[in-house]
Amino acid sequence: MTATLDTQETTAGEIPSFEVTLKVRRFNPEQSDEAFWEEHTLTMYGTDRVLDALHKIKWDHDGSLTFRRSCAHGICGSDAMRINGRNRLACKVLLKDLNPEKGPITVEPIKGLPVIKDLVVDMEPFFASYREIMPFLVTAGNQPSKERLQSPEQRERYDDTTKCILCAACTSSCPVFWTDGQYFGPAAIVNAHRFIFDSRDEGTTQRLEILNDKEGVWRCRTIFNCTEACPRGIEVTKAIQEVKQAMIRRAF
Ligand code: SF4
Ligand code: FES
Repeated sequence: MTATLDTQETTAGEIPSFEVTLKVRRFNPEQSDEAFWEEHTLTMYGTDRVLDALHKIKWDHDGSLTFRRSCAHGICGSDAMRINGRNRLACKVLLKDLNPEKGPITVEPIKGLPVIKDLVVDMEPFFASYREIMPFLVTAGNQPSKERLQSPEQRERYDDTTKCILCAACTSSCPVFWTDGQYFGPAAIVNAHRFIFDSRDEGTTQRLEILNDKEGVWRCRTIFNCTEACPRGIEVTKAIQEVKQAMIRRAF
């Protein structure tokens, strides 16, 4: 089915509607070991996002369609999926920007993590890597009796990597991660960067030793898929390079 934008008559102030076909990858291990594609043609509006189309399918056509979402505003990171072959947050992509008049929009689960059902993957391997890099402030000595002060320049040093929402769009777009899933992956390194370059933190040596592992930063091949995928605009590849440089400076 071929959809066309702006084909429906509108009156002043009315948002124009258009037809869109969503081709969704379905998988239900209770019914079959095989995944399959399912198409739904919907009437949507210029303000609708891919998440709205998934809601429409679930609420009006097939309640069994399974996907994660929470905030619907690009904050919680729970609805990362492959949309037209690129990792995106379904709540941040407008349908009209995907040229629905040119053909179906494909929606699949992110790659490299086991699919549980439809668009839901098992995030545990992803969070296991995240936990390993110790994503918390490490300090020694007595509890401070006043704030741990930091200059604006020191705060700026790791500002970019504080923006991570742990959506896994970067890690699951990385071909190195796809190969065996053992690589720590970009998101874990981004979150290590956030503490390695924090002037108040005292766990840098430990974190760098962890990432010096054979499945650590040296497996990055600077492919840039991660940077391209990040919905927060984090310079992921740059952060990985900075962690590599910190490691070289310490000469592990
Ligand atoms: S770095 Fe970006 S893409 Fe990766 S998990 Fe964080 S927010 Fe998502
Ligand atoms: S639903 Fe929270 S980021 Fe999309």
